[in-house]
Amino acid sequence: MSFANQVAIVTGASSGIGWELAKTLAAQQCAVGVVARRKDRLEALVEEIQAAGGKAACAVADVSEHAQTLAAIHSLRDQLGPVDLLIANSGVGMPTTLEPINIDEIEMMFKVNTLGVVYAIEAVLPEMLQRGQGHLVAVSSMAAYLGMPGESGYCASKAAVNYYMDGLRIQLRRRGIHVTTVCPGFIETPMTAANTFKMPWLLKADRAAAMIVKALGRKKKVYNFPWQMSLLMKLAGWAPDWLLERILAGKAGKRLEM
Ligand SMILES: NC(=O)c1ccc[n+]([C@@H]2O[C@H](COP(=O)([O-])OP(=O)(O)OC[C@H]3O[C@@H](n4cnc5c(N)ncnc54)[C@H](OP(=O)(O)O)[C@@H]3O)[C@@H](O)[C@H]2O)c1
Repeated sequence: MSFANQVAIVTGASSGIGWELAKTLAAQQCAVGVVARRKDRLEALVEEIQAAGGKAACAVADVSEHAQTLAAIHSLRDQLGPVDLLIANSGVGMPTTLEPINIDEIEMMFKVNTLGVVYAIEAVLPEMLQRGQGHLVAVSSMAAYLGMPGESGYCASKAAVNYYMDGLRIQLRRRGIHVTTVCPGFIETPMTAANTFKMPWLLKADRAAAMIVKALGRKKKVYNFPWQMSLLMKLAGWAPDWLLERILAGKAGKRLEM
């Protein structure tokens, strides 16, 4: 299914997966509204899409700020029309430290990764309910499935997204609104650029975006990819702590965010 003639909003579109998602949707003749904090990057993306014959507009917001997020998405709705597809993709990842606990960074991860999704949904949901149609998407992570040592803050912020989206999907079942949770494994973006270990089944961001858009066309409830990473995470869920400690604890502090 193509997204031609639809209106999509993508948060966190100033780099990585969000940037590629916006371009992929625009290439299908979908009008795309892009949101993030870096205005210059958003403007460059809009120019690139327009130069390729697509339709796009941008608005700046820090998605951890409720009012900013609503205002940015509402202004894009006013420019582009009623929103058919929201992809709440903005995210940050930092290791979790013990001595001391890095409270500021953990708070920030929950505000951006979890509340940022809820705020973006709040901005589009009333009109979707009124129209009896729409598609809400959150880019979570495979990290939602396992509390990894040195990553408990990031993993918890993503697990919360999965549960929020699960409940919402069931609540919206009879309201004509689809809900998809996207859980990628390792994707080559600025977020993972700092990783010092060999990331298994690493995908390029443009390939990841193409896979995500295809899954959204199929209205998948939860899209875990690549399948090899999904299988590994399921198996890891059964593994005893001593084994996970042996495999993962050596990587603590080496940034396992995905
Ligand atoms: N790369 C991976 O391996 C991987 C795997 C699984 C899941 N994910 C998830 O995929 C999503 C995209 O990540 P990425 O890999 O593409 O990383 P990225 O290249 O670092 O992009 C992150 C995006 O989020 C935006 N963002 C960060 N903080 C924000 C804030 N406070 N307000 C608004 N926007 C904010 C950034 O824009 P500004 O800095 O301009 O605001 C940027 O556009 C994230 O949710 C991430 O957790 C990534």
